[in-house]
Amino acid sequence: MALEKIVFKGIDIPGNTDLKVYEEHGGYEQWKKILKDKITPEEVIEIVKKSGLRGRGGAGFPTGLKWSFVPQNTKKEKYLLCNCDESEPGTFKDREIIEKSPHQLIEGMLIAAYAFQGGVSYIYFRGEFVKGWKICEAALAQAREAGYIGENILGSGWNHQVWTHRGAGAYICGEETALINSMEGKRGEPRIKPPFPAVEGFYKSPTIVNNVETLTAVPKILENGPEWYHQWGTERSTGTKLWSCCGHISNPGVYEVPMGYSMKKFFEEELGGVWKDRALKAVIPGGSSTPAMTPEEFFACKMDYESIAEHGSMLGSGGMIVMDDQTCLVEVAEVLAQFYHHESCGQCTPCREGTGWVHRIIQDIERGQAQPDVKNVLFTVFDEIFGNTICPLGDSIVMPIKSLMDKWPEEFDYYIKEGKSKITGKARRPKKKEMPDNWRREKPFNYPKTEDYYTDFSKTAHSN
Ligand SMILES: Cc1cc2nc3c(=O)[nH]c(=O)nc-3n(C[C@H](O)[C@H](O)[C@H](O)COP(=O)(O)O)c2cc1C
Ligand code: SF4
Repeated sequence: MALEKIVFKGIDIPGNTDLKVYEEHGGYEQWKKILKDKITPEEVIEIVKKSGLRGRGGAGFPTGLKWSFVPQNTKKEKYLLCNCDESEPGTFKDREIIEKSPHQLIEGMLIAAYAFQGGVSYIYFRGEFVKGWKICEAALAQAREAGYIGENILGSGWNHQVWTHRGAGAYICGEETALINSMEGKRGEPRIKPPFPAVEGFYKSPTIVNNVETLTAVPKILENGPEWYHQWGTERSTGTKLWSCCGHISNPGVYEVPMGYSMKKFFEEELGGVWKDRALKAVIPGGSSTPAMTPEEFFACKMDYESIAEHGSMLGSGGMIVMDDQTCLVEVAEVLAQFYHHESCGQCTPCREGTGWVHRIIQDIERGQAQPDVKNVLFTVFDEIFGNTICPLGDSIVMPIKSLMDKWPEEFDYYIKEGKSKITGKARRPKKKEMPDNWRREKPFNYPKTEDYYTDFSKTAHSN
């Protein structure tokens, strides 16, 4: 039986980007109710805390608890930043929300900011999300026009503004403090924590950064109550989760799945199993930064934070990448290494240099030119990177690649020994040319001479 959307039903309602359609389905009712019935910010936080909602951006931090960290004894403005950077390979669920149900996100943001008394919100868009940004801008204009955003909202005396901000398209700007730096017009580089943004974030003011999916769940939790949200999942992983599923499956797409649901059942009934009647080899379950799972681990686990961790990986952002038995995992490792090397912001030496080393070493394996003892060299580099960096991007190259090498050692050993892939029977890259020892001296660099820059004005059009 096909799983129906519950919290994110709005995604499947045709025309739901329009305010009228959203209102016809109960849209902005929770926002109106809070203001009309004078539900206090503390009460809103309590409801969200009780629901057990955890951040859907990857870390799974309890949302209500995070809001409660915002200091109230300050004259500074408090900000809500909605994280719509979504650049993790395999993750494409926030995009569904912003393109198909933007008003539910906006209503969630209004409620969240009210809960910690934030006066201004921004939605930070990944630069490439032009379509989603335009849809959100149109939705925001409608919400302003209807009086849900602005000064003295619906006569309540509460003021709140929501603006959008477009990034330039960098994975690292999804990390909350890099996002804040980017919003301030600085390079998108993560900051050392503490201080955490809830205390000192955007322009050194208290700031909550929340994922799109997290905020979009809030109106439905308010509407139906925390117990309703608790009916799904486990004690620690409550509610439902959006999963973006891609790779070698019959039915790729975005699915809403109750927490704790059987992974095997989901895989077979919803995703239609592995495509082309092939066998399953590996799955990266939570976005490309999470460890790969063997079919045994994958089928034994349930779809919640704890069960996936018990079976050797992480739920992360819920970006599932499925690989069939014809996938060369050395090639997968190279593609991952290239991505993380390219996206490293360069602040920490272990990440800046280490990601490049890992990438070059794996490329050498793919040329059939692996250096001696190459696996130990790689594991040493992993040890130097892991846990030794400002943000978890360094760990993100280590976790998936190390898991591939640990769980499928024969594929790496074969490539290293035979100089070609166990799966494709070929080396993926041409061999590097052997350079003569004295190649630098043989071909001296040709420094330009002064006359190379000299312009003979007597020969120009204006010389007369
Ligand atoms: C390298 C890196 C990239 C990240 N990218 C995103 C992202 O694209 N979207 C997101 O919501 N969180 C991302 N995060 C997590 C954020 O730092 C932060 O935990 C999250 O936005 C908090 O929202 P939540 O509590 O609602 O999950 C990323 C973290 C790291 C380390
Ligand atoms: S770990 Fe990498 S991406 Fe994160 S701050 Fe350090 S260099 Fe930048």
